Amino acid sequence: MHACVSYANTSVCAGRCAFACMGVCLCVGNGWIHESIMRGSVSFNPAQIILTAGATPAIEALSFCLADPGNAFLVPSPYYPGFDRDIKLRTGIELIPVHCRSSNNFSLSIAALEREYKQAKKRGIKVRAVLLSNPSNPVGNILHRETLYDLLSFVTDKNLHLISDEVYAGSTYGSEEFASIAELLDTGVFDNSRVHIIYGLSKDLSLSGFRVGAIYSYNENVIAAVSKLTRFCGISLPTQHLLVSMLSDTKFIEEYLKVNRERLAQMYALFVEGLKHLGVECFKSSGGFYCWVDMSKFLKSYSVKGELELWENILNVAKVVVTPGASCHCIEPGWFRCCFTTVTERDVPLVMKRISKVLKDHKARQ
Ligand SMILES: Cc1ncc(COP(=O)(O)O)c(C=O)c1O
Repeated sequence: MHACVSYANTSVCAGRCAFACMGVCLCVGNGWIHESIMRGSVSFNPAQIILTAGATPAIEALSFCLADPGNAFLVPSPYYPGFDRDIKLRTGIELIPVHCRSSNNFSLSIAALEREYKQAKKRGIKVRAVLLSNPSNPVGNILHRETLYDLLSFVTDKNLHLISDEVYAGSTYGSEEFASIAELLDTGVFDNSRVHIIYGLSKDLSLSGFRVGAIYSYNENVIAAVSKLTRFCGISLPTQHLLVSMLSDTKFIEEYLKVNRERLAQMYALFVEGLKHLGVECFKSSGGFYCWVDMSKFLKSYSVKGELELWENILNVAKVVVTPGASCHCIEPGWFRCCFTTVTERDVPLVMKRISKVLKDHKARQ
């Protein structure tokens, strides 16, 4: 590891070093941190990991390699609003939302994917990939193994790539078990070379300021191309150095992940309970940092305009930051993403009191 770190100071070895370091950097003991999260159910090959300064540049670099400007990715929605900025801004790639509905528990329907794919084709748009976040940001649901199988069949049938953003893989707290797309590829049934996993330490290890992310790709050409692009988004050597010593402590990481899951479960339950007292229902999430909240009955008009009006009051009157569903391309007005990891348990009553005041006012003026 030390040889590797010092190599990186020389420009000649920088590319090779980033490649070599990645085998070390996201390792817990002898395995990749994702492997630790998966509790040994999958094995990862260090030669297929490419490190980047966060999941954000990982997604962008991968997008540059998979599509040309004007091409599109299908993205089950509601989706993480950052995708619009991170993917579209510099690559010129379009994102086509594939709407998932509350009546179907916001589950992904392959029929809806098929519909959007055909629509895009009709409009002359070349779809290159399906992009998922699993566990999902903002909804917090986990894709079932059957859906992952169906998705792999879909992308194989249409000759597409599949990008699975698994940054919340270790941040699960519900009864549902998370399965990485990697688990299904171990079966050997599918063409692995079309699958790419995004990971990072911002969420599971709460290290967003460290800027550490990774692409795990099963495609040699993509690995070669992305490795070149990571010249622009490498992880600083002091950061790598620090992480190596931290991640080598297997016991600490296991304990951290365990305690983190317990705390997420507690905060999620507390938030959901608090909102329930205000007459507000939440989607039953299993992972991530958010409650996916249905405030549709408080809208003055059942529209995006009504949703944004409520959002503005929650922001400016209650002084609470939530994300309106419209920013996540949710087509049902009144859903909001509330992050429950930015407050402490002690803050929850105050947050609820402030939201309650705004909701009462909206109810009264309906
Ligand atoms: C689904 C998803 N992917 C990627 C990111 C970006 O992570 P990073 O901080 O590693 O760039 C986020 C951050 O919110 C996210 O929610």
